[in-house]
Amino acid sequence: MTDYAPTPEFTEQAVGQASLYDEAADHEAFWAARATEYVTWSQDFGTTLDWSDAPFAKWFVGGELNASYNCVDRHVEAGNGDRVALHVVGANGDDRTITYADLLREVSKAANALESLGVTKGDRVAIYMPMIPEAVIAMLACARIGAPHSVVFGGFSSDALKARIEDGEAKLVITSDGQFRKGKAMPLKEAVDRAVPGTTAGKVLVVKRTGIDVEWDDERDVWWHEVVDSASDQHEAPAHDSEHPLFILYTSGTTGKPKGILHTTGGYLTQCAYTNAVVHDVHPETDVYWCTADIGWVTGHSYIVYGPLANGATQVLFEGTPDSPHQGVFWEIVEKYKVSILYTAPTAIRTFMKWGADIPAKYDLSSIRVLGSVGEPINPEAWRWYREHIGGGSAPIVDTWWQTETGAIMNSPLPGVTTLEPGSSQRPIPGISAEILDDEGQPLTEPEQVGYLVLTKPWPSMLRGIWGDPERYKDTYWSRFGPEYYFAGDGAKYDADGNIWILGRVDDVMNVSGHRLSTAEIESALVSHPRVAEAAVVGASDETTGQAVVAFAILRQDGETGGAEGDELIQELRNHVGQQIGPIAKPRQIMIVDELPKTRSGKIMRRLLKDVAENREVGDVTTLADSSVMNLIKDGMAKPSGD
Ligand code: WTA
Repeated sequence: MTDYAPTPEFTEQAVGQASLYDEAADHEAFWAARATEYVTWSQDFGTTLDWSDAPFAKWFVGGELNASYNCVDRHVEAGNGDRVALHVVGANGDDRTITYADLLREVSKAANALESLGVTKGDRVAIYMPMIPEAVIAMLACARIGAPHSVVFGGFSSDALKARIEDGEAKLVITSDGQFRKGKAMPLKEAVDRAVPGTTAGKVLVVKRTGIDVEWDDERDVWWHEVVDSASDQHEAPAHDSEHPLFILYTSGTTGKPKGILHTTGGYLTQCAYTNAVVHDVHPETDVYWCTADIGWVTGHSYIVYGPLANGATQVLFEGTPDSPHQGVFWEIVEKYKVSILYTAPTAIRTFMKWGADIPAKYDLSSIRVLGSVGEPINPEAWRWYREHIGGGSAPIVDTWWQTETGAIMNSPLPGVTTLEPGSSQRPIPGISAEILDDEGQPLTEPEQVGYLVLTKPWPSMLRGIWGDPERYKDTYWSRFGPEYYFAGDGAKYDADGNIWILGRVDDVMNVSGHRLSTAEIESALVSHPRVAEAAVVGASDETTGQAVVAFAILRQDGETGGAEGDELIQELRNHVGQQIGPIAKPRQIMIVDELPKTRSGKIMRRLLKDVAENREVGDVTTLADSSVMNLIKDGMAKPSGD
């Protein structure tokens, strides 16, 4: 058996040492020490944790800080202004280098510009941008003022953007004219133009990225280069309360309505910086770190913006995609910038595997010393490929389990301490406590039994609630096993060595290429099409994307007819979902069916549809109201549909 223990050389230099596990025996003292170690406070905190209003936590009570100051100013003050903060790799060959001193000037200018546009502390700002440095600058400028940002993934549709602007009552939207996709300039502001009318957003701040033509509303639209470039580069960062809202980030849950996950300042920043240091093993003076996530997801928030910048790290910011301009572009970037820490997603790794090891073999990847994985379970085969072909057969892989809600990494090996187990995120990191419970809420003690992953102690970067919906927050996370346990929604088991294996979602949430999608959201998008009467959506396992969206739809018998039929109709429905939510939500397959399998109480039995979608023998149908429907559906499934 291969031994994946860390080498003594790695252990010796590692930021995260085994002593952290011992230190964490005193939970609050441990986190108070991390908050002091990783964060600069303008006003010291008193109580470490106030859990008296559980499940609404307060961390580092009475403390005051500015997240933007922590990510930028203090590094310049420490004499590191010349250190590269961002190696910006443009999708158009237009690379840029941004030092910490540059970043301080840009963030200060942007903060002044936002204030001149009327943004004040507490106002929400929606950010809908491609992976350009202005996105990072915009987030930090909002944090500086104390205006919570709500970043909306640039791949979401204008309908999805509108819903998020409305829910968060954003006052301003920051976007760009367009974005580069596989070398082509594509529109982006256009979606904002459709989303903003009728909402609270009175201003739209627009970065000129591609130079493509845009519609312009003189009253509402403002060019970034006009207001930001001319603003003063001096901006005093005010101190905010530790519990001041830092951002809202929408994620999918079990209903059709996305949840605005609320994060606050002090605890979030502490855990992001600490985990980035001890899990990714970042040595800011020497490492070049690259997290390939998009800024629109939580990984981009925590491990591009807040964690690494708080640590003063040098990182790569890549605007493009893994296949453009060629399938070796990732490895070209690693070679060129001597990337030493790479953090990416299993879906990307499986894609690289499919493309073949001879592509990375053409590049010098010897700078790599730590690899990370996030977003979904990584299968052991992909893990070994990653280690062998990207990690030179020796780089530790940190498989990090966490969620939008947890804000930062929760379960992961420590690369200098843990003997790795391919496919498992192993154990809670020091400071975090997890358990696996059975259906009755009893902790599992035996290996290989399947249960539910729960977190048993509050943690600093935990969500503070769902924007505007405290009841939903309590119901979703703190009721399944009682108020003592945060229910993560993931199934899990222990192996014989006590490692935790995440087995995927147990609720109606799918994970497609590491992106969370809700079955209910896609179903409601489908039934909003005039031809669809009813729809059921399942996540079927998929070799590359982890899961894929498979939909079953019943057409309306009345109403509109005479439109598209057959494959053309299916294409129309797929596009409709793309328009309602975004291209990532487009079903891989849509089956037109006459019936859906339902229990006698009318609940759709997704389990059976999943069997069909995964070409399995259909399971127990005894609770079906009409057991013959499964045969009809299976027969229909034999015909291919979609593309
Ligand atoms: C899944 C992404 C297995 C899990 C940071 C979780 C993982 C959901 C892992 C959160 C991992 C994330 N191993 N599963 N290392 N990381 N997941 O909110 O189902 O986009 O609940 O946060 O992704 O997805 P989210």
